[in-house]
Amino acid sequence: MRVSVIGCGYLGAVHAAAMASLGHEVVGIDVDERKVAALREGRAPFYEPSLPELLTEAGAGGHLTFSTDIADAHGADVHFVCVGTPQMTGEFRADLSYVDASVGSLAPYLRPGDVVAGKSTVPVGTAERLAEQLAPTGAVLVWNPEFLREGFAVQDTLHPDRLVYGLPTDDDGEPTAEGRKARDVLDEVYATPLGEGTPLVVTDYATAQLVKVAANSFLATKISFINAMAELCEATGADVTRLADAIGYDARIGRRFLNAGLGFGGGCLPKDIRAFMARAGELGVSDALGFLREVDSVNMRRRVRVVDLAREVCDGSIVGRRVAVLGAAFKPDSDDVRDSPALSVAAQMQLQGAHVTVTDPQAIENARAKWPDLHFATTAVEAAQGADVVLLATEWQEYRELDPDALASAVAHKRILDGRNVLDPARWRAAGWTYRALGRP
Ligand code: UDX
Repeated sequence: MRVSVIGCGYLGAVHAAAMASLGHEVVGIDVDERKVAALREGRAPFYEPSLPELLTEAGAGGHLTFSTDIADAHGADVHFVCVGTPQMTGEFRADLSYVDASVGSLAPYLRPGDVVAGKSTVPVGTAERLAEQLAPTGAVLVWNPEFLREGFAVQDTLHPDRLVYGLPTDDDGEPTAEGRKARDVLDEVYATPLGEGTPLVVTDYATAQLVKVAANSFLATKISFINAMAELCEATGADVTRLADAIGYDARIGRRFLNAGLGFGGGCLPKDIRAFMARAGELGVSDALGFLREVDSVNMRRRVRVVDLAREVCDGSIVGRRVAVLGAAFKPDSDDVRDSPALSVAAQMQLQGAHVTVTDPQAIENARAKWPDLHFATTAVEAAQGADVVLLATEWQEYRELDPDALASAVAHKRILDGRNVLDPARWRAAGWTYRALGRP
């Protein structure tokens, strides 16, 4: 199939490379010239394991090209819309300007029967509006949400848990003839994952749009649930990691996404739950999502709690204290610092008068661009030089494996805060460290 991918960020660049690796002829389009130049050279503009290999492979085979000119999308059978929908400044709503701009600029190049597949995370109702807008072109809109996780994006795109098609439906809720044709086209695009037995859910626009935000809301709720339990553990001397293990053995609950700590961040979960609440308000059902406000609050309280812990171990004040923060990315195996709990805590401590040095295996440049006033170091040992307290904020493998004795020679005081509950308290205490964590005695 001939495929165009509009928007080459975390989602689009991976989707373009993955579609080419499935054997399609792909053109990736982005307005950012630097991004396109990098992608053309087979360089990923952000850190994502296995993406560089996929780009080089597909680029060398001539199946993958990149362009800044939307006219180059002309002639593709399917156009995937993969642009961002960030949170509006000062509001909970999603900013749809990139979606509107990309669909608007694509429209003149569409042919009747072309499929436009929306992948961006949008407030429910957007697909219906875009379908109307595209009607005069004769192209068919399908909503095909994406569930990839950063760090596993290639794997998640090539071998997804499920595929969802939101098709145009008639008054009886059945797919229209155009919708059925569009389904056949998507089936051909995804022939390989479908052939591997990937479950396919075919539904209407509204359900398809809701699936994505419902999934992310559930994940956020699961994390905030265990972080609320961590607050209870802190008040009672219980251990949240053992609690999570014990409840996680119940197959109905499951242990995944029950890691208590600094909570969720990134370019999806925080803004998606907020945009969902805003949309529920517009639809007159804000009570239905009242709990998400609490999910957000629990999540933000963890960041405050860790600053309090730092103050506690530093005898009541962090003013003028040296703090080493291990991790800046919102999670390991990513260089993404959007709404990163690690970086937000680092910045907060710096604002409260501490001297904060941050390190991260991949995200230092992005972190520096966002918070230039912080200090940066390339390794954990370098960051920990003269530290009064060390905070593990993002659980990169190399921080999980840190040797307490090796770090001891660098610091001024052997105090460690385990913001992700990944260190062995007994080992650190045996090496003479004061060990504190979130939700653990
Ligand atoms: C998420 C969804 O998982 C994905 O399906 C969707 O398409 C986009 O949003 P991502 O943002 O890449 O993906 O990160 P994810 O792995 O879900 O982690 C989100 C945040 O939750 C991270 O900050 C992570 O550190 C945190 N987290 C995750 C926890 O605090 N505890 C956990 O147990 C799991």
